[in-house]
Amino acid sequence: MKILVCILVVLSLGVLPGCGEGEERFGRREEGWGFEAEDYDAGRILLEPYGSLFYALIRSRMDPSNDPFVIWLNGGPGSSSMFGLLMENGPWKLVNDGDLERNEYSWNNIANILYVDQPFGTGFSTVSSSEYLVKNENEAAVYFHRFLVSFIEKFPEYKHRPLYLTGESYAGRYIPAISNEIIKQNYSTINLVGCAIGNGNFDPIVQIPELSVYALENDLITKDQADKTLIEHLERLKLNRGDRIRCYENYFWQVWELVFSHRALNGYDIRTSSTKWNVQELTNFFNNESIQKRLNVYQSEWVLVSQMVHSQFDMFDTTKISSNVEIGLSKGIRYFIFAGDKDLNCNWRGIEAWSNSIGFDCQDTFTSSRYQKWNVDGEEAGEFKHHDNFTFLRVYEAGHMVPMDQPKRSLAMLQSFIKNDFKDII
Ligand SMILES: *[C@@H]1O[C@H](CO)[C@@H](O)[C@H](O)[C@H]1NC(C)=O
Ligand SMILES: *[C@@H]1O[C@H](CO)[C@@H](O)[C@H](O)[C@H]1NC(C)=O
Ligand SMILES: *[C@@H]1O[C@H](CO)[C@@H](O)[C@H](O)[C@H]1NC(C)=O
Repeated sequence: MKILVCILVVLSLGVLPGCGEGEERFGRREEGWGFEAEDYDAGRILLEPYGSLFYALIRSRMDPSNDPFVIWLNGGPGSSSMFGLLMENGPWKLVNDGDLERNEYSWNNIANILYVDQPFGTGFSTVSSSEYLVKNENEAAVYFHRFLVSFIEKFPEYKHRPLYLTGESYAGRYIPAISNEIIKQNYSTINLVGCAIGNGNFDPIVQIPELSVYALENDLITKDQADKTLIEHLERLKLNRGDRIRCYENYFWQVWELVFSHRALNGYDIRTSSTKWNVQELTNFFNNESIQKRLNVYQSEWVLVSQMVHSQFDMFDTTKISSNVEIGLSKGIRYFIFAGDKDLNCNWRGIEAWSNSIGFDCQDTFTSSRYQKWNVDGEEAGEFKHHDNFTFLRVYEAGHMVPMDQPKRSLAMLQSFIKNDFKDII
């Protein structure tokens, strides 16, 4: 969805809210930004002749030699995963005026986390010629697999370590493709166990019609408006997949227009009209010489979303990714799909509909199973449906970026995913 990028740009004018009170602060400028407080490694892996992929490996705070290996990918396409590192589930949080603060709910509390900028040309990753820019997730997956093999050669402690691929938004397309590529390449040293995707962009055909359902439920459009778009939608069901998707592109913008024409709203979090991050601050941070030195990418230019990468992709792609998910499940790879329920863009209704439509073995059992309460620390934090190796979780009071909005619950969620047990948390 092109709007993902547009919104990032538009919202960049906002400011970050103040940081939590009474929290221990560390990593002030004069103390070296707090980088030293974590055990990390960063750099690029060269994949000749195409370019390089940048990684930041943050080792576990608990038991790095035995804890699982988790990869986090932001979406876009073309969005740097450094956003996840500093704004979502990483050990450092970028707060006002460029200081770092400790994230006590960082995912590296329980796992080694690898943040990767991909495909070529994203974030700190490079591309040696525009002909090597990838055009879809299947191409991206081929290079990501090669990257991973090289990474494990460089860090052999992750050979055969249980691996979980996690990410958000457009990573909903990358991750199943990568999983499929790992399977196709017979795993080699890669011990893929599961995939977790938050507010994923999986299949516009299934997700877009739910936009008006969600908008109506949240009083963003009227019943009449919803009915009208629904009738149009039903007519479009007669079209073939390819034609239908082009109509959905219009449909998407139509609903978008209805929602946004008379109000200021954050499409990533309908509870607010302002943004929660400051693109300029992130950009300054990652373009700072001394930060780049610490990340082994001296003299690079970093942007949050690479338009060069983004523009290669068709955001309303007609390829079905469900088959990649089906293949994974049939090989015993776990899928965990979660959705912050305050996100309009990749809203939970669309993701629920997609989860009910994949077509894996036991799909019907999953689809008809009842939601159960998801409690974290004695508080109702969401609801989930679970069957065997497939779980869908609706996270309450979170927008598009679940780890940003619900840090503690998102850590609990990772824990449950790794244990494959969502029933009793903490
Ligand atoms: C994976 O294994 C299958 C079956 O043993 C074999 O036919 C195929 O060539 C292998 N693929 C790779 C990339 O090694
Ligand atoms: C970069 O960061 C260092 C602290 O590590 C700071 O002293 C310096 O002023 C920053 N440079 C710019 C251009 O912001
Ligand atoms: C679920 O995954 C496990 C491995 O994680 C596997 O042993 C089991 O067979 C899978 N279940 C199904 C129904 O595929």
